[in-house]
Amino acid sequence: MNESPWWSRAVFYQIYIRSFADGNGDGVGDFAGMRARLDHLSWLGVDAIWINPFYPSPGADHGYDVADYRGVDPMFGSLNDCDQFLADAHSRGIKVILDLVPNHTSSEHPWFRNALSDRDHPDRDKYIFRDPRPDGSPPNNWESSFGGPAWTLHKPSGQYYLNMFASEQPDLNWRNPEVHDDFEKTLRFWLDRGADGFRIDVAHALYKDDVLRDNPPDDSPVYHGYMYDQPEVHDLYRNWRKIADSYPGDRVLVGEVYLFDPEKSAAYVAPNELNLAFNFLLVWVTWDAAAFKDAIARPLEALDKVGASGAWILSNHDVERHVTRFGGGEAGLRRGRAAALLLLSLPGTVFIYQGEELGLDQADVPDDQRQDPVFKRTGGILKGRDGCRVPIPWDEHPHGYGFSISEPWLPAPDGWGSKAVSVQMQDPGSILNLYRTALAARRASDALTHGEFKWIDVPSGCLGFKRQTDGDKLISITNLTSELQRIPAVGDLLLASDTDVAVHDGKLELPTDSSAWIRA
Ligand code: NOJ
Repeated sequence: MNESPWWSRAVFYQIYIRSFADGNGDGVGDFAGMRARLDHLSWLGVDAIWINPFYPSPGADHGYDVADYRGVDPMFGSLNDCDQFLADAHSRGIKVILDLVPNHTSSEHPWFRNALSDRDHPDRDKYIFRDPRPDGSPPNNWESSFGGPAWTLHKPSGQYYLNMFASEQPDLNWRNPEVHDDFEKTLRFWLDRGADGFRIDVAHALYKDDVLRDNPPDDSPVYHGYMYDQPEVHDLYRNWRKIADSYPGDRVLVGEVYLFDPEKSAAYVAPNELNLAFNFLLVWVTWDAAAFKDAIARPLEALDKVGASGAWILSNHDVERHVTRFGGGEAGLRRGRAAALLLLSLPGTVFIYQGEELGLDQADVPDDQRQDPVFKRTGGILKGRDGCRVPIPWDEHPHGYGFSISEPWLPAPDGWGSKAVSVQMQDPGSILNLYRTALAARRASDALTHGEFKWIDVPSGCLGFKRQTDGDKLISITNLTSELQRIPAVGDLLLASDTDVAVHDGKLELPTDSSAWIRA
């Protein structure tokens, strides 16, 4: 009997709520839509769901600008709808984690309004206001992740405030104890309602250098990001972990720790801190065996040292969809299928981003319909993230593909009808059915859910490893080369990413861009 907590072997499905399913017909996804599609997620076989922010928000960054942390934006439904959703998911054995956004509030949050109303208002210290430099320029050289300086001038007071993202997302001052108290309330509010945990937005950035030093130039050999990864943040997570652990059922804290040094990000999942931190190396890899191996091996080593397990993702709502990253079209899709089996055989937790199970490409959104603040703040130099956020297709209906009865908030691309859920469900060879079969096989396999992990020798350009418990042994091999590989393999083919994979006379025949799971 395996005693590890549910989240350590779970497959999560990430729901970008605006784009999943629209229940009330206004063109934007919502709780009613999600509830109506829960049976589909049961059919798919996911263990848990992460929902992107749904709190009251002016929507400057589509919900990552929160105006009220303990409510539901009417655009998505009511608190009651949220409770119902949690109950419905739980009754199907599906856990639900919410998205907590503690680095910044919306500029419409009552604290920030108070902060702007009066320099002496106590809420002003909940944010990071500073005088300009003598020449009137911002207090330091920090840049916003969305382009431009990380400081916005508040003209009436003559001071700048810090915003690591959009100006409508002022950064909180985590050195203010009232900020701590209020977030503890928020954690308990949702945990009391049955949330199974949280994904924590920009988890590495809550504390900034206490004297706000300039960042050294990018090419500096001693680069140190003064905007993030400050030691103080670890005490905060130890405290949040205590809160989460005071609830029954292994509530989980998953950090968006956007640090590319695996050792640094592993520090966030040290004992008694966060449970999981996404491995972001994989959202940037190209279709190359050495790159994949590096993006898996280094995090695994670092996690091992702190006794934590991995959280693997290929895509999310912030990056180009991986089918496109891997070449797009049919080739990208074939690689997406192979990558799915690779990912789902890694040790730890896997996150699937809605639409990847349909093999969706990045959508081409016309510039005049783009909504991401990244597009606007960079004057269109960066296209932004709308292309991975287009509502997903449920059926072939040319008008919005069954997502909504109205115009979807981002336009649906031509040709997505053939990718729709209803179409792929009928096709045993579809990527949707591949994900479903893989999830079921993973769930049924001790080796895959909690077996030991070990790399095995495979031809150059391939990746191979075994997963093993006392009674179960499975080998996962992916061929990222452009040639057919014949690899000695003892065992039965449990699952392959395509129909041209076979085992003959003790040899696995693995064509280009394919993966196989072999039961040894
Ligand atoms: C990370 C989120 O995933 C992204 O969508 C958001 O824009 C930033 N954090 C700011 O909250």
